[in-house]
Amino acid sequence: MAMTARRLAPSFCGEIDGVDLSRLDDAATDAIKAAWLAHKVLVFHDQHLDEDGLVDFAQRLGDVEIHLRQARIVGRREVLLVSNKKENGEPIGRLGNQELNWHMDQIFMAQPTAGTMLYAVEVTPEGGDTWFCDLGTAYSALPAALKARVEGMRAVHSAATADRRVGIQLTEEQRQRAPEAVHPLVRTHPLAGEKALYFSMNHTARIDGMSEADSLDLLDELRRHATAPQFVYAHHWRVGDLVLWDNAATMHRRDPFPDHFPRLMRRVGISFPADLRAPF
Ligand code: OGA
Ligand code: MN
Repeated sequence: MAMTARRLAPSFCGEIDGVDLSRLDDAATDAIKAAWLAHKVLVFHDQHLDEDGLVDFAQRLGDVEIHLRQARIVGRREVLLVSNKKENGEPIGRLGNQELNWHMDQIFMAQPTAGTMLYAVEVTPEGGDTWFCDLGTAYSALPAALKARVEGMRAVHSAATADRRVGIQLTEEQRQRAPEAVHPLVRTHPLAGEKALYFSMNHTARIDGMSEADSLDLLDELRRHATAPQFVYAHHWRVGDLVLWDNAATMHRRDPFPDHFPRLMRRVGISFPADLRAPF
């Protein structure tokens, strides 16, 4: 079964209409997997998924992860709430209303998350857009000298770096479960075979063997190149949207939004098959 996706940006991002993610057969699942690999980011509209439905869909795509920072006691543990909402004065989810800088999800794990899906339950009329950049196409378009320079480099990532840069607090137990991870700065996609830049402005502490200051200069140069308009798509959310992205080929960021607008997203992370999880 072929599934047609409308391209939303020059090199990546596909929008798929006419699919009900709560009723997929195996052929439709395979078509979604193929489209996801080809487009790196997929956008679906008008979906009706409760937490069980979201986890069922995720399980069709791969092994579902429990997020390092999961702290829910009610609801599905596979589903992380991303929200600024509060109940009895306590945040019900993660990440508040602040801007999120260009980053990659859980790059700080030895086996980072392959894909993330975000499903919009409540959206804001202002702000809160989620931006994606195509790190594969950006890598192949690097100026030759920069491409030669990054060849063979390895980058060191940690959740503690994100704590420092973004102010997300880790518990001691979480810190121990996620020590530093070292991955190639240019990663070969384990399924697509495409090479892509692989770093996160929030989590990449340094390039192995370089000072933090020099590392940040280089990362910022790569970030400026990779987030030029021709490599970027910005998603403006509607209720019922589901966006699925490939963390091995894209970075993302979020615009801030006014805190008096409630925003609620349900989020699920998926792994690559076991033998393909460690970046190479
Ligand atoms: C995330 C994330 C962006 C958003 O959940 O990993 O980056 O728009 N969310 O909330
Ligand atoms: Mn993220």
